[in-house]
Amino acid sequence: MNFSAVLNHWLHLLSVIVWIGGSAYQVFVLSPLIKSGDLPSKTLVQMLRRFRNVSLVALIVLVVTGGINLGIRRAGHESFPPGYVSALAVKVFLVVAMGSGLLVGYVRSADDENKKESGSDQSALPGFGTTKVTFAFGIIVIFLASMLRQWKF
Ligand code: HEM
Repeated sequence: MNFSAVLNHWLHLLSVIVWIGGSAYQVFVLSPLIKSGDLPSKTLVQMLRRFRNVSLVALIVLVVTGGINLGIRRAGHESFPPGYVSALAVKVFLVVAMGSGLLVGYVRSADDENKKESGSDQSALPGFGTTKVTFAFGIIVIFLASMLRQWKF
């Protein structure tokens, strides 16, 4: 057994669980609570900011361990089958879109800070729009990952 491959796979899966699991929690638990108006918006904004940083770390780990996964899968083969490459390309495209969503979140929160500094105390309530997209794309990415796993070559 290749222990470093196991460790890499474990890290990849762990990051998926943290990022997509956390997004699911926001979409299914936090988002409906916001609508009820029971949660203080300042606390919510702080929670979302913290989770955004956690997501960024998860994304970086995913990209690094994903690349290593690819190297491990390639070992002993001349090249990848075209179908495998196509599925992987769709997966990476969706991951880039998810990463862009994260970036949008950072830009928006910097905008909010600027607005606060310039006097308008409008604590913007998170809309969860990008989180919903991230979650939906994450589900597709996990499906593609299962396909890649089962690809025999
Ligand atoms: C650029 C980033 C990424 C790259 C290059 C990448 C690449 C890979 C590769 C090559 C594998 C092994 C597939 C095989 O066994 O043939 C894998 C496994 C996996 N990836 Fe990624 N990945 C990336 C990001 C992600 C993201 C963002 C998610 C989820 C949201 C994800 C979910 C998974 C899962 C769940 C597996 C394990 C499948 C299994 O063991 O059954 N990956 N990834």
